[in-house]
Amino acid sequence: MALEPVNVREFQQMAKDGLPKMYYDFYAGGAEDEFSLKENEEAFRRITLRPRVLVDVSRIDMSTTILGYRISSPIMIAPTAYHKLAHPEGEVATAKAAAACNTIMILSFMSTCTVEEVASSCNAVRFFQLYVYKRRDVAAALVKRAERHGYKALVLTVDVPRLGRREADIRNRMVLPYLKNFDGLFSAEVDSDNGSNLEAFANQTLDASLCWKDIAWLKSITNLPILVKGILTGEDAIKAMEAGVSGIVVSNHGARQLDYSPATISVLQEVVHATRGKIPVLFDGGVRRGTDVFKALALGAQAVLVGRPIIYGLAAKGEAGVRQVIEILKTELELTMALSGCPSLKDITRSHVKTERDRI
Ligand code: FNR
Repeated sequence: MALEPVNVREFQQMAKDGLPKMYYDFYAGGAEDEFSLKENEEAFRRITLRPRVLVDVSRIDMSTTILGYRISSPIMIAPTAYHKLAHPEGEVATAKAAAACNTIMILSFMSTCTVEEVASSCNAVRFFQLYVYKRRDVAAALVKRAERHGYKALVLTVDVPRLGRREADIRNRMVLPYLKNFDGLFSAEVDSDNGSNLEAFANQTLDASLCWKDIAWLKSITNLPILVKGILTGEDAIKAMEAGVSGIVVSNHGARQLDYSPATISVLQEVVHATRGKIPVLFDGGVRRGTDVFKALALGAQAVLVGRPIIYGLAAKGEAGVRQVIEILKTELELTMALSGCPSLKDITRSHVKTERDRI
């Protein structure tokens, strides 16, 4: 009998062994040289912990509140595309796991299940991730659907004016079998004779002219809180606050867009400082261990989003796999908190980590 995976890496290996190469490469890959892809994880390794001892850690509380919603730990599900390529139940399975783990799922705009299917399958708190189509009426209709079906916030992803060059997808001629057929969030008729059809889809449909003033447009069509995802500088964090958003996600899109963008953990503190605690800062990119979650919280994130590990869990074992991935990360975080002298999330402070810039 195959051994049960005990960490996220082993789930990745299981997914790799089980998935068609084209799909595994699509999930695992990054842009161009994949410098940022490696850096997202490597930069975590360059941060060490500063544990404190003789603190009562007989009870550990990992629970937190995001935009008013209480969740069991600061580990949320990032929006990622096309879950049915990983497992036939797709996003419905992921959402059920989110509910079982009492966390928040952000449903991708590129979902292979409809907003309605995901909403009716479970009672997890769900946010909806948005790309804005050139056809604003289509984007507005989607926002209305998400509102109607109980999604609690919009996550506007702002780092895809064009699709990054993911060379594995081009090489594999990655095409989306669902693109034309499924009754999902989009039904664009996109064909591309050479290479991947993802790029053609994105570049034909997404609005590259989107800019800061369009947040006002989005606010005019919805009452949902808006988070912007894809912020990497203090300057843009300030602009986001000026535009009136309810939160920020520090993200480089899992290093799938602009190669040589910084490892997200290396810019988290800059963004947190710029916001001066006025709005929550969420974080994603390279989180593979509970210690990574701890480091992001110590540097000021309110919670982390996890992307690829969720897909690996889904590919390996469906809903149960997603649940296990989240539970493993929670177990690791809880242990890290205990061994660092932090019984609750508010006890995790900047002084619990040492980055390369710190002299102490
Ligand atoms: C993504 N990401 C993403 N983001 C988004 O806003 N909308 C989307 O549809 C997708 N799709 C997507 C597909 C795949 C396969 C990946 C790996 C990522 C980015 C995602 O939300 C998140 O920013 C990263 O995945 C975080 O990095 P890790 O956890 O994968 O290292």
